[in-house]
Amino acid sequence: MADAARDGSAYFRGIAAKWEPVCAPVLESVPLRAGAMLPSELLLFASLCLETKVGLVVESGRKEGYSTEILCRVGGWLVHSIEKAVVEEADKRLAAAYGGRLALHRGDGRRLVPTLVDAARRTAVLLDGPKSTGANLMLPSIRGAAVFVGIHDVPLLGTDHQGNSRRASIENGAAYFTDDPEYVAQFGRYDRAWMDRSGYKSHRDFLAVCCVLGIFRGGYKQLTEKLPKST
Ligand SMILES: C[S@@+](CC[C@H](N)C(=O)[O-])C[C@H]1O[C@@H](n2cnc3c(N)ncnc32)[C@H](O)[C@@H]1O
Repeated sequence: MADAARDGSAYFRGIAAKWEPVCAPVLESVPLRAGAMLPSELLLFASLCLETKVGLVVESGRKEGYSTEILCRVGGWLVHSIEKAVVEEADKRLAAAYGGRLALHRGDGRRLVPTLVDAARRTAVLLDGPKSTGANLMLPSIRGAAVFVGIHDVPLLGTDHQGNSRRASIENGAAYFTDDPEYVAQFGRYDRAWMDRSGYKSHRDFLAVCCVLGIFRGGYKQLTEKLPKST
């Protein structure tokens, strides 16, 4: 088990390191937005998209579009982004900047995500609303046709303010979590501005609040067989 955890850590850190030269300039150029995911989480998600050559990313929960913008800038894939409480100004900005490669949807991701995942286009899914436990409940309806799924907000066991979603993620066979200490040591520097802005002194305190990405293998075998077993 310890070896599996180590292999998982090395594998995912290796992917993030491989694609860091592509992702870092994007992470450093997109302005931080309220309530957004951490740059270090998006580094891993975007790196996995590049590594597995996805053609489509379906995101649920865009708010002001920090994650959306990073996804649109990193790769040449199409992005379907869903939001139930649309921020009109943000959507205007996103449509003007990324119109041709970004489809902005208004509605409930629990209903829309399964209709947008397209196995033939090799789809990665990012769930940041619903998140945590709500997102874990969606997994059975989407992972079969997805290359992989990322769920934001799966905090440490015992610190979970959102219904023990970490436990649900482990039970759902999460392959990796971005609060892996070795991942934080290697890539946590991208979150420095976020931490300073939120007033957190240590990465551990920060991650304990919520900002952890869980990665789940999808069912699209050809592209996921390289992913290691659950850690
Ligand atoms: C934390 S914010 C998203 C931040 C964004 N991913 C980023 O990094 O900038 C979560 C968003 O999810 C939306 N949301 C929550 N439940 C949802 C659902 N079932 N379907 C679609 N959007 C949802 C909320 O309205 C909120 O705007």
